[in-house]
Amino acid sequence: MPELNVYNGTSRRCSPIKGQVSVPGDKSISHRALILGAVAAGETTIKGLLEGEDVLRCADALEIMGIDIKRPKSVHEGWKIYGRGIGGLFEPKSVLDMGNSGTAARLLIGLISGHPFTAFFTGDDSLKSRPMSRVMEPLEMMGADFQSAFEGKMPLSVTGTDQLVPIQFTLPIASAQIKSAILLAGLNTRGMTQVIEPKQTRDHLERMLQYFGADITCEKNTEGIQCINLIGQTELIGQDVVIPSDFSSAAFLIVAAIIVPGSQIKIIGVGINPLRTGLLKTLLEMGAKIEIENERLESGELIADISVESSAIKGVNVPLERVPSMIDEFPILSIAASCADGVTQMIGVGELRLKESDRLKAVAQGLTSCGVTVEEDHDSLVIHGCGSKKGYIPGGVTVSVNLDHRIAMSFLVLGMVSKYAITIDNVSVIDT
Ligand code: S3P
Repeated sequence: MPELNVYNGTSRRCSPIKGQVSVPGDKSISHRALILGAVAAGETTIKGLLEGEDVLRCADALEIMGIDIKRPKSVHEGWKIYGRGIGGLFEPKSVLDMGNSGTAARLLIGLISGHPFTAFFTGDDSLKSRPMSRVMEPLEMMGADFQSAFEGKMPLSVTGTDQLVPIQFTLPIASAQIKSAILLAGLNTRGMTQVIEPKQTRDHLERMLQYFGADITCEKNTEGIQCINLIGQTELIGQDVVIPSDFSSAAFLIVAAIIVPGSQIKIIGVGINPLRTGLLKTLLEMGAKIEIENERLESGELIADISVESSAIKGVNVPLERVPSMIDEFPILSIAASCADGVTQMIGVGELRLKESDRLKAVAQGLTSCGVTVEEDHDSLVIHGCGSKKGYIPGGVTVSVNLDHRIAMSFLVLGMVSKYAITIDNVSVIDT
């Protein structure tokens, strides 16, 4: 698909960043709020929905499947979703184009699996290269049928049924998208669908299902492993949802404030679900000055204000078990690591090769071209920080972002401290 509006963006050394700011709504939670609103009974109001490309694709797809959605006319109003109840979607009359969004694609494939019709999915070049077999396999076990042109990748069709059988499924990969696809299929499945998570992943769907009144329990078994049990065909009731600010978006500002000397910022109302905030722990271990204040609950999610000051940081080893809780933050951690004293090691991060781009390769190539020493292995990345004593990172290059918004934003942050400006070759990818 040709890319429209492709234009370069450049960032260069800047003065301290100061002030109080809020960032847009959480992407993962926004998708889930729209989807549950669509299959709940009655009206759901969503405030703070992320109006980025990915989430808008999800909303468009739900509208194509018969859901009435009213978009707000002013920032003070929420989105209104008029839910059609469990199993209430209509067969789509056109192809569902998920653009760049792996989350919308995988979650909707799960949801549609519990409906007796066929839907066709496609996406942009990035999404078409990403594996969908990871959700197709468990959903096939439940009774959905798939056809895909290229070995479990998009374009694909899913034929669902209202006679799915419940499964007990142990996640072979720590993936919230796989877990969520199975649970959404389980909503219209008679009996108990069980997902077992040897490594816990973000639990936004479980929290939101509880908030909408689903029959769901989440508990650790005798071996300490997280088990999620969902009894299907229980009506959900429309709710008022407030979406927290996205920690993964805040992460770019947090790192920018740490590395730009003299900076001091406060980010208000950010989601700090512990299954998302592994980056905070890592940055604190690196010596960053970060304070979490005013913790409170919003629509079943923990939020807080995050204060950050520029700090001298040192390299660390990121523990393997922390990887799922910061899976989207490795690109921006790599920028912090480049500015730290000493070496930062990230191991067990091979999943990053299957994101919007091969993020290990993109980070390694981008940083190397900027003058940072990086060692890349099939599932690890080692960054030799330039640190405060060794002078600035040269930069002065154009980085190719390969349809990946997190790569784009990470290198724009690095340009704020590099000796020469850094250009990215496509700013429009940030719209997601
Ligand atoms: C997401 C889960 C993660 C994450 C993605 C959003 C979600 O993907 O990388 O940005 O909302 O469920 P995986 O489940 O593939 O790890």
